[in-house]
Amino acid sequence: MKAPFITFEGGEGSGKSTQIKLLSNYLKEKGVDFITTKEPGGTELGVELRRLLVEGSADKMDANAEALLFFADRRIHMTQKVWPALKEGKWVISDRFADSTVAYQYYAYNQRLSIEDIDMLYGFAVGDFKPDLTFILDIDPKIGLERSFKKAETMTVKETRNENRLLQWHQNLRQGYLEIAKKEPQRCVVLNADTDVQTLHDKIVKVIEERFGL
Ligand code: TMP
Repeated sequence: MKAPFITFEGGEGSGKSTQIKLLSNYLKEKGVDFITTKEPGGTELGVELRRLLVEGSADKMDANAEALLFFADRRIHMTQKVWPALKEGKWVISDRFADSTVAYQYYAYNQRLSIEDIDMLYGFAVGDFKPDLTFILDIDPKIGLERSFKKAETMTVKETRNENRLLQWHQNLRQGYLEIAKKEPQRCVVLNADTDVQTLHDKIVKVIEERFGL
């Protein structure tokens, strides 16, 4: 079997990183050779781009500029980390990928950019490569944002550029993810993230076992 590329998506505070940790423990137990990574900031250069993108005021750049920087980060991530790992037969689990750009820079901003432009950037940065499986952790943004602000209290550097946006923006984002899943139901699995951590983990493992026969 070809090593799969699995992505986790969702709004703020949807619990992606916790679920990726639990999934990592499970994959280790199963003896799977894998790496975990993230966007933005999965590479050394990407860490610098991440700082520009997630810190500071919400209006310091517009959605076009963000899309360009996220795809620059993505291109570096793919060429330096994701593709080499897959080539070595390692599974790759990524905290966010291109669905984030569609959900955030397109849907959350009320579809001000054109989806054709985003598709064009995707082709330029990634070609016709796609994730094998995408988990979309769905949560009411009111609950997600509360979780996210609580987490930010413990951070020395506040990555709250998006958290500070209007609730409507986060609601657009949530709907955007559901639209993405509707368009690609085979690749995208939507899971209710407003549940306890273990229940969600068990659901994720069930899908992984079904798809990849572990
Ligand atoms: P994180 O907090 O889940 O690590 O993600 C960083 C922030 O960047 C989060 O608010 C989502 C945002 N983001 C985009 O707006 N577009 C993208 O393409 C990606 C990958 C992330």
